[in-house]
Amino acid sequence: MLTCRPVELLGTSWVLLAGLLVPLQQAADAAGPLERKAAAVGSSVLLPGPDNVTHIFSTRWEHLNGTSSRTILQYHSGSHNPAIHAPYTGWAIFHPSNGSLLLEDVQEGDSGIYKVTVNTGERESLQILLEVLKPVSRPRLWGRALVARATAEVLCDVEEGKVDTFTWKKDGQPLPPDRGVRLSDSLSVLYLRSAKKSDCGSYSCNASNGISWQEASLNVTIAGLSPPLQDVLRVAVVAVVFAAVSGWGLVFPVCQSEKLRISESAAGGSRTLIALVLGGGQLVSS
Ligand SMILES: *[C@@H]1O[C@H](CO)[C@@H](O)[C@H](O)[C@H]1NC(C)=O
Ligand SMILES: *[C@@H]1O[C@H](CO)[C@@H](O)[C@H](O)[C@H]1NC(C)=O
Ligand SMILES: *[C@@H]1O[C@H](CO)[C@@H](O)[C@H](O)[C@H]1NC(C)=O
Ligand SMILES: *[C@@H]1O[C@H](CO)[C@@H](O)[C@H](O)[C@H]1NC(C)=O
Ligand SMILES: *[C@@H]1O[C@H](CO)[C@@H](O)[C@H](O)[C@H]1NC(C)=O
Repeated sequence: MLTCRPVELLGTSWVLLAGLLVPLQQAADAAGPLERKAAAVGSSVLLPGPDNVTHIFSTRWEHLNGTSSRTILQYHSGSHNPAIHAPYTGWAIFHPSNGSLLLEDVQEGDSGIYKVTVNTGERESLQILLEVLKPVSRPRLWGRALVARATAEVLCDVEEGKVDTFTWKKDGQPLPPDRGVRLSDSLSVLYLRSAKKSDCGSYSCNASNGISWQEASLNVTIAGLSPPLQDVLRVAVVAVVFAAVSGWGLVFPVCQSEKLRISESAAGGSRTLIALVLGGGQLVSS
Protein backbone atom coordinates (compact mmCIF):
# COMPACT_ATOMS: atom_id res chain seq x y z
CA MET A 1 0.00 0.00 0.00
CA LEU A 2 2.77 2.38 0.92
CA THR A 3 4.59 1.87 -2.35
CA CYS A 4 1.46 2.53 -4.38
CA ARG A 5 0.97 6.05 -3.04
CA PRO A 6 4.32 7.76 -2.84
CA VAL A 7 2.96 11.18 -3.82
CA GLU A 8 0.31 11.42 -1.11
CA LEU A 9 2.77 10.05 1.41
CA LEU A 10 5.31 12.68 0.53
CA GLY A 11 2.66 15.37 0.82
CA THR A 12 1.62 14.17 4.27
CA SER A 13 5.16 14.08 5.55
CA TRP A 14 5.77 17.63 4.33
CA VAL A 15 2.73 18.84 6.23
CA LEU A 16 3.89 16.96 9.33
CA LEU A 17 7.40 18.32 8.98
CA ALA A 18 6.18 21.87 8.53
CA GLY A 19 3.89 21.47 11.53
CA LEU A 20 6.85 20.37 13.63
CA LEU A 21 9.40 22.83 12.36
CA VAL A 22 7.40 26.02 12.73
CA PRO A 23 6.83 25.79 16.52
CA LEU A 24 10.40 24.54 17.03
CA GLN A 25 11.74 27.50 15.12
CA GLN A 26 9.56 29.88 17.07
CA ALA A 27 10.69 28.35 20.36
CA ALA A 28 14.33 28.69 19.37
CA ASP A 29 13.89 32.30 18.27
CA ALA A 30 12.16 33.25 21.48
CA ALA A 31 14.50 31.47 23.83
CA GLY A 32 17.99 32.05 22.47
CA PRO A 33 20.56 29.33 21.95
CA LEU A 34 20.17 25.92 23.59
CA GLU A 35 23.14 24.02 24.98
CA ARG A 36 23.14 20.44 26.14
CA LYS A 37 24.90 19.10 29.18
CA ALA A 38 24.98 15.70 30.80
CA ALA A 39 26.03 15.10 34.39
CA ALA A 40 26.29 12.13 36.71
CA VAL A 41 24.00 11.82 39.72
CA GLY A 42 25.78 13.29 42.73
CA SER A 43 28.19 15.44 40.74
CA SER A 44 28.48 19.23 40.54
CA VAL A 45 27.54 20.99 37.33
CA LEU A 46 28.66 24.40 36.23
CA LEU A 47 26.03 26.10 34.13
CA PRO A 48 27.75 28.91 32.24
CA GLY A 49 26.30 32.36 31.74
CA PRO A 50 25.90 33.81 28.25
CA ASP A 51 29.19 34.02 26.40
CA ASN A 52 29.97 37.50 25.26
CA VAL A 53 28.34 39.78 27.74
CA THR A 54 30.88 42.32 28.93
CA HIS A 55 28.93 44.03 31.71
CA ILE A 56 26.45 42.18 33.80
CA PHE A 57 23.98 44.43 35.56
CA SER A 58 21.45 41.82 36.44
CA THR A 59 21.08 38.07 36.14
CA ARG A 60 18.13 35.76 36.43
CA TRP A 61 18.28 31.97 36.45
CA GLU A 62 15.16 29.87 35.97
CA HIS A 63 14.36 26.18 35.76
CA LEU A 64 11.82 25.62 33.02
CA ASN A 65 9.52 22.74 33.67
CA GLY A 66 7.06 22.05 30.89
CA THR A 67 5.14 25.28 30.51
CA SER A 68 5.91 26.64 33.97
CA SER A 69 9.14 28.13 35.19
CA ARG A 70 10.63 28.41 38.62
CA THR A 71 13.02 31.19 39.53
CA ILE A 72 16.27 30.00 41.03
CA LEU A 73 17.82 33.38 41.62
CA GLN A 74 17.67 37.00 40.76
CA TYR A 75 20.71 39.23 41.05
CA HIS A 76 21.31 42.94 40.62
CA SER A 77 24.87 44.17 40.60
CA GLY A 78 24.05 46.89 43.17
CA SER A 79 22.96 44.39 45.82
CA HIS A 80 25.33 42.48 48.08
CA ASN A 81 24.01 38.97 47.85
CA PRO A 82 22.15 37.19 45.14
CA ALA A 83 18.74 36.09 46.34
CA ILE A 84 18.69 32.34 45.83
CA HIS A 85 15.20 30.93 46.14
CA ALA A 86 14.22 27.75 47.93
CA PRO A 87 14.79 24.88 47.29
CA TYR A 88 18.05 25.94 45.65
CA THR A 89 19.39 27.72 48.74
CA GLY A 90 22.52 25.96 49.92
CA TRP A 91 23.31 23.89 46.85
CA ALA A 92 23.30 26.46 44.07
CA ILE A 93 26.34 28.75 43.98
CA PHE A 94 26.23 31.86 41.84
CA HIS A 95 29.26 33.64 40.36
CA PRO A 96 28.24 37.28 39.81
CA SER A 97 31.36 38.03 37.74
CA ASN A 98 30.35 35.86 34.80
CA GLY A 99 26.79 34.89 35.59
CA SER A 100 27.50 31.16 35.90
CA LEU A 101 25.67 28.91 38.32
CA LEU A 102 27.14 25.88 40.05
CA LEU A 103 24.67 23.17 41.09
CA GLU A 104 26.03 20.71 43.63
CA ASP A 105 25.05 17.09 44.19
CA VAL A 106 22.56 17.01 41.31
CA GLN A 107 19.85 14.35 41.19
CA GLU A 108 17.81 12.93 38.29
CA GLY A 109 14.91 15.24 39.21
CA ASP A 110 17.13 18.24 38.51
CA SER A 111 17.12 17.40 34.79
CA GLY A 112 15.45 19.95 32.58
CA ILE A 113 16.02 23.29 30.94
CA TYR A 114 17.89 26.00 32.81
CA LYS A 115 17.60 29.49 31.43
CA VAL A 116 19.81 32.44 32.24
CA THR A 117 18.95 35.97 31.24
CA VAL A 118 21.33 38.84 31.84
CA ASN A 119 20.52 42.52 31.72
CA THR A 120 16.87 41.54 31.17
CA GLY A 121 17.46 41.16 27.44
CA GLU A 122 16.14 38.13 25.60
CA ARG A 123 19.14 38.43 23.28
CA GLU A 124 21.43 37.94 26.23
CA SER A 125 19.96 34.68 27.36
CA LEU A 126 21.02 31.09 27.15
CA GLN A 127 19.18 27.85 27.72
CA ILE A 128 20.91 24.74 28.92
CA LEU A 129 19.26 21.36 28.67
CA LEU A 130 20.66 19.44 31.62
CA GLU A 131 20.36 15.68 31.78
CA VAL A 132 21.31 14.14 35.11
CA LEU A 133 22.07 10.47 34.60
CA LYS A 134 23.05 7.37 36.49
CA PRO A 135 26.00 5.54 34.96
CA VAL A 136 24.93 2.51 32.92
CA SER A 137 25.52 -0.84 34.56
CA ARG A 138 27.40 -3.60 32.78
CA PRO A 139 25.17 -5.13 30.10
CA ARG A 140 23.94 -8.69 30.41
CA LEU A 141 24.24 -10.64 27.15
CA TRP A 142 22.55 -13.87 26.26
CA GLY A 143 21.44 -15.86 23.24
CA ARG A 144 18.10 -17.26 22.20
CA ALA A 145 17.39 -19.94 19.59
CA LEU A 146 21.05 -20.29 18.63
CA VAL A 147 20.16 -23.01 16.16
CA ALA A 148 21.10 -23.42 12.52
CA ARG A 149 18.55 -22.05 10.03
CA ALA A 150 16.45 -20.49 12.80
CA THR A 151 16.29 -16.78 13.54
CA ALA A 152 18.80 -16.68 16.35
CA GLU A 153 18.87 -13.75 18.75
CA VAL A 154 21.61 -12.14 20.78
CA LEU A 155 20.15 -9.90 23.48
CA CYS A 156 21.74 -7.11 25.48
CA ASP A 157 20.05 -5.81 28.61
CA VAL A 158 21.09 -3.02 30.97
CA GLU A 159 19.70 -3.03 34.47
CA GLU A 160 20.58 0.47 35.64
CA GLY A 161 21.15 3.81 33.95
CA LYS A 162 19.23 5.29 31.04
CA VAL A 163 20.86 4.07 27.82
CA ASP A 164 21.18 6.51 24.91
CA THR A 165 22.88 4.19 22.45
CA PHE A 166 23.55 0.51 22.01
CA THR A 167 26.33 -0.40 19.59
CA TRP A 168 27.24 -3.92 18.54
CA LYS A 169 30.46 -5.51 17.42
CA LYS A 170 31.22 -8.94 16.06
CA ASP A 171 34.74 -10.27 16.52
CA GLY A 172 35.82 -6.73 17.33
CA GLN A 173 34.39 -5.20 14.14
CA PRO A 174 31.55 -2.67 14.48
CA LEU A 175 28.25 -3.82 13.01
CA PRO A 176 26.08 -1.27 11.13
CA PRO A 177 23.89 0.67 13.61
CA ASP A 178 20.69 -0.65 12.05
CA ARG A 179 21.60 -4.27 12.82
CA GLY A 180 20.68 -3.85 16.48
CA VAL A 181 16.97 -3.47 17.18
CA ARG A 182 15.94 -1.51 20.25
CA LEU A 183 13.15 -3.44 21.98
CA SER A 184 12.88 -1.11 24.96
CA ASP A 185 14.82 1.61 26.79
CA SER A 186 17.12 -0.97 28.27
CA LEU A 187 17.07 -3.84 25.75
CA SER A 188 18.62 -4.28 22.32
CA VAL A 189 18.55 -7.39 20.16
CA LEU A 190 20.55 -8.60 17.21
CA TYR A 191 18.66 -10.95 14.90
CA LEU A 192 20.71 -13.56 13.09
CA ARG A 193 18.30 -14.63 10.38
CA SER A 194 18.69 -18.16 9.11
CA ALA A 195 21.62 -18.64 11.47
CA LYS A 196 24.67 -20.20 9.91
CA LYS A 197 28.27 -20.97 10.56
CA SER A 198 29.40 -17.43 9.78
CA ASP A 199 27.22 -16.10 12.60
CA CYS A 200 29.38 -17.83 15.18
CA GLY A 201 31.82 -15.61 16.99
CA SER A 202 32.28 -13.11 19.76
CA TYR A 203 29.55 -10.47 20.04
CA SER A 204 30.02 -7.29 22.06
CA CYS A 205 27.37 -4.86 23.16
CA ASN A 206 28.30 -1.33 24.21
CA ALA A 207 25.64 0.57 26.13
CA SER A 208 26.30 4.26 26.61
CA ASN A 209 24.75 7.51 27.74
CA GLY A 210 26.03 11.07 28.08
CA ILE A 211 28.25 10.25 31.04
CA SER A 212 29.24 6.59 30.82
CA TRP A 213 29.55 3.42 28.79
CA GLN A 214 29.92 -0.28 29.52
CA GLU A 215 30.68 -3.17 27.23
CA ALA A 216 30.15 -6.91 27.58
CA SER A 217 30.84 -9.84 25.25
CA LEU A 218 29.38 -13.23 24.53
CA ASN A 219 30.81 -16.13 22.55
CA VAL A 220 28.06 -17.39 20.29
CA THR A 221 27.96 -20.86 18.81
CA ILE A 222 25.18 -22.01 16.54
CA ALA A 223 23.92 -25.51 17.17
CA GLY A 224 23.14 -27.53 14.06
CA LEU A 225 20.09 -29.00 15.66
CA SER A 226 16.89 -27.88 14.05
CA PRO A 227 13.88 -29.30 15.93
CA PRO A 228 13.01 -32.25 13.60
CA LEU A 229 16.55 -33.54 13.95
CA GLN A 230 16.29 -33.91 17.70
CA ASP A 231 14.89 -37.42 17.44
CA VAL A 232 18.14 -38.49 15.91
CA LEU A 233 20.12 -37.18 18.85
CA ARG A 234 20.25 -40.38 20.83
CA VAL A 235 21.43 -42.32 17.81
CA ALA A 236 23.92 -39.60 17.10
CA VAL A 237 25.37 -39.73 20.59
CA VAL A 238 26.01 -43.41 20.16
CA ALA A 239 27.52 -42.68 16.78
CA VAL A 240 29.89 -40.10 18.15
CA VAL A 241 30.95 -42.25 21.05
CA PHE A 242 31.58 -45.04 18.63
CA ALA A 243 33.39 -42.75 16.26
CA ALA A 244 35.58 -41.52 19.04
CA VAL A 245 36.37 -45.06 20.08
CA SER A 246 37.04 -46.25 16.58
CA GLY A 247 38.89 -43.12 15.57
CA TRP A 248 36.66 -42.40 12.57
CA GLY A 249 37.03 -38.88 11.27
CA LEU A 250 33.40 -38.28 10.57
CA VAL A 251 33.23 -34.86 12.17
CA PHE A 252 32.68 -31.68 10.20
CA PRO A 253 33.97 -28.99 12.47
CA VAL A 254 31.54 -26.12 12.45
CA CYS A 255 31.95 -23.39 15.10
CA GLN A 256 33.70 -25.81 17.48
CA SER A 257 30.24 -26.74 18.72
CA GLU A 258 29.90 -30.25 20.06
CA LYS A 259 26.18 -30.25 19.42
CA LEU A 260 26.73 -29.29 15.84
CA ARG A 261 29.31 -31.93 15.28
CA ILE A 262 26.85 -34.43 16.61
CA SER A 263 24.06 -33.40 14.31
CA GLU A 264 26.24 -33.00 11.27
CA SER A 265 27.37 -36.52 11.83
CA ALA A 266 23.83 -37.74 12.36
CA ALA A 267 23.58 -38.81 8.73
CA GLY A 268 26.57 -41.01 9.24
CA GLY A 269 25.02 -42.12 12.50
CA SER A 270 22.82 -44.84 11.08
CA ARG A 271 25.78 -46.32 9.27
CA THR A 272 27.74 -46.20 12.47
CA LEU A 273 24.91 -47.77 14.37
CA ILE A 274 24.89 -50.69 11.95
CA ALA A 275 28.60 -51.02 12.42
CA LEU A 276 28.02 -50.88 16.11
CA VAL A 277 25.41 -53.61 16.04
CA LEU A 278 27.59 -55.72 13.80
CA GLY A 279 30.50 -55.15 16.10
CA GLY A 280 28.38 -56.20 19.08
CA GLY A 281 29.64 -53.12 20.93
CA GLN A 282 28.84 -52.70 24.60
CA LEU A 283 28.45 -48.92 24.42
CA VAL A 284 25.87 -47.34 26.61
CA SER A 285 23.80 -44.48 25.23
CA SER A 286 22.69 -41.84 27.69
C1 LIG B 1 32.86 31.95 36.41
O1 LIG B 1 33.61 32.36 37.52
C2 LIG B 1 33.87 31.37 38.50
C3 LIG B 1 34.55 32.04 39.68
O2 LIG B 1 35.45 32.98 39.27
C4 LIG B 1 34.70 30.27 37.86
O3 LIG B 1 34.97 29.25 38.82
C5 LIG B 1 33.94 29.68 36.70
O4 LIG B 1 34.73 28.72 36.03
C6 LIG B 1 33.53 30.77 35.73
N1 LIG B 1 32.60 30.20 34.77
C7 LIG B 1 32.79 30.20 33.47
C8 LIG B 1 31.75 29.56 32.61
O5 LIG B 1 33.79 30.67 32.99
C1 LIG C 1 27.81 37.16 20.75
O1 LIG C 1 28.72 36.72 19.78
C2 LIG C 1 28.14 36.31 18.57
C3 LIG C 1 29.23 35.80 17.66
O2 LIG C 1 30.35 35.47 18.36
C4 LIG C 1 27.42 37.50 17.93
O3 LIG C 1 26.80 37.08 16.74
C5 LIG C 1 26.37 38.02 18.90
O4 LIG C 1 25.77 39.16 18.37
C6 LIG C 1 27.00 38.35 20.24
N1 LIG C 1 25.94 38.65 21.19
C7 LIG C 1 25.99 39.71 21.96
C8 LIG C 1 24.85 39.89 22.88
O5 LIG C 1 26.89 40.51 21.91
C1 LIG D 1 8.47 19.80 37.43
O1 LIG D 1 7.13 19.39 37.29
C2 LIG D 1 6.84 18.17 37.91
C3 LIG D 1 5.42 17.79 37.59
O2 LIG D 1 4.61 18.90 37.39
C4 LIG D 1 7.06 18.31 39.41
O3 LIG D 1 6.82 17.08 40.04
C5 LIG D 1 8.51 18.70 39.64
O4 LIG D 1 8.73 18.91 41.01
C6 LIG D 1 8.83 19.98 38.90
N1 LIG D 1 10.26 20.25 39.04
C7 LIG D 1 10.72 21.47 39.29
C8 LIG D 1 12.19 21.58 39.41
O5 LIG D 1 10.00 22.44 39.40
C1 LIG E 1 31.47 2.43 23.76
O1 LIG E 1 30.70 3.52 23.29
C2 LIG E 1 31.15 4.78 23.76
C3 LIG E 1 30.17 5.84 23.30
O2 LIG E 1 29.97 5.78 21.93
C4 LIG E 1 32.56 5.04 23.27
O3 LIG E 1 33.02 6.27 23.75
C5 LIG E 1 33.46 3.91 23.77
O4 LIG E 1 34.77 4.08 23.29
C6 LIG E 1 32.92 2.57 23.33
N1 LIG E 1 33.72 1.51 23.92
C7 LIG E 1 34.34 0.59 23.20
C8 LIG E 1 35.14 -0.43 23.95
O5 LIG E 1 34.27 0.57 22.00
C1 LIG F 1 35.37 -16.32 24.04
O1 LIG F 1 36.29 -17.26 23.55
C2 LIG F 1 37.66 -16.83 23.60
C3 LIG F 1 38.51 -17.88 22.91
O2 LIG F 1 37.92 -19.11 22.92
C4 LIG F 1 38.06 -16.61 25.05
O3 LIG F 1 39.39 -16.16 25.11
C5 LIG F 1 37.15 -15.57 25.66
O4 LIG F 1 37.44 -15.41 27.03
C6 LIG F 1 35.69 -15.97 25.50
N1 LIG F 1 34.86 -14.86 25.92
C7 LIG F 1 33.81 -15.01 26.70
C8 LIG F 1 33.06 -13.78 27.01
O5 LIG F 1 33.44 -16.10 27.12
